[in-house]
Amino acid sequence: MEFLLRTIFDYGLTLIGFWALFCWSIDNFRSVIQIIKSILMPYFQPYENKTLAEKYGKWAVITGSTDGIGREYAKELAAQGMNIVLVSRTESKLVEVAKDIESTYSVKTKYIIADFGNGKEIYDDIRQQLHLLDVGILVNNVGRMYDFPDELDNISENLLWQIININVAAVTMMSRIIIPQMKVNKRGIIVNISSGSELQPVPLMTVYASTKVYVKNFTLALSKELEGYNVQVQLVTPLFVQTKMNNYSTTVMKGNILVPDVKSYTKSAVFTLGRSFKTTGYWSHGLQYGTMKLIPEYIRTLFSFSMNKKFRQEYYNQQKNAAVE
Ligand SMILES: NC(=O)c1ccc[n+]([C@@H]2O[C@H](COP(=O)([O-])OP(=O)(O)OC[C@H]3O[C@@H](n4cnc5c(N)ncnc54)[C@H](OP(=O)(O)O)[C@@H]3O)[C@@H](O)[C@H]2O)c1
Repeated sequence: MEFLLRTIFDYGLTLIGFWALFCWSIDNFRSVIQIIKSILMPYFQPYENKTLAEKYGKWAVITGSTDGIGREYAKELAAQGMNIVLVSRTESKLVEVAKDIESTYSVKTKYIIADFGNGKEIYDDIRQQLHLLDVGILVNNVGRMYDFPDELDNISENLLWQIININVAAVTMMSRIIIPQMKVNKRGIIVNISSGSELQPVPLMTVYASTKVYVKNFTLALSKELEGYNVQVQLVTPLFVQTKMNNYSTTVMKGNILVPDVKSYTKSAVFTLGRSFKTTGYWSHGLQYGTMKLIPEYIRTLFSFSMNKKFRQEYYNQQKNAAVE
């Protein structure tokens, strides 16, 4: 009897182990397999080897495209022959980025001034301005974090509304505007930029991280809805990248193998376009993300709390030093 119980117990444990490994592998290797498959595919089906404009449509719309990851997406897509629509809030920066793109790559550009923090009122104008364009790629990149990690009641109500409007409403409404024409054309791809903070609750970045859980679930559900229309939806989940969003931390802004510069990150993320539909976009972020998933959520939450306390302290130190100088 004892032997029988022990055998059942051993088999049970082995089965649970295999099941956990199977689930983890599907989550973490699917993207790599999709990328390898897409690289090999043109050798077997050369007629499939189309430019982005031929595959999806001539114009790419990128939100939050005057700085950071969005600006690099615009440049990378222009380098691949896409015409670019820049959507951001600061006109002088929009003019500068548009000029830079037109003079470097032989493509057309257009810009739309829109402050996504303002919510509902901006979308009629965006819809009208995009009306006659053959939009093949939409990159929902715009995103806003607090100025530094902090407790919820220290963040102004105005900033909280802005973060919700920018991180949640923009991805939803921009997709809502573009999807009808993509459905009619039976082609197109929507790229939604989430964040590693989608993975667990993140104290001191409570609202930012929660909005990214929305982006993740919104993207994965939408991709199923649009599958039958040949419209693709990609979830890109960066971890830390050196951009002004992280100015509060000198450690992050120094960069290292886990925190790439924005050009290297975005070049790699754009390479995954149309190849993988759920990716961190960068090899070392993939390794980090996979490793984090091995750790229980409760411990990850504690770890991120402690990390953000350090970042907040770094920010306070920066402010103190600036006041002394
Ligand atoms: N950097 C990271 O470590 C990291 C990690 C994970 C996820 N992400 C995500 O990646 C995306 C891009 O982040 P990033 O680091 O590249 O940000 P960033 O460097 O701060 O750039 C943000 C861009 O969005 C524009 N923008 C900001 N607020 C806006 C508003 N209210 N209306 C219109 N445009 C606005 C900015 O315009 P201005 O130039 O006028 O400010 C800028 O062009 C975000 O969704 C972010 O959550 C970033």
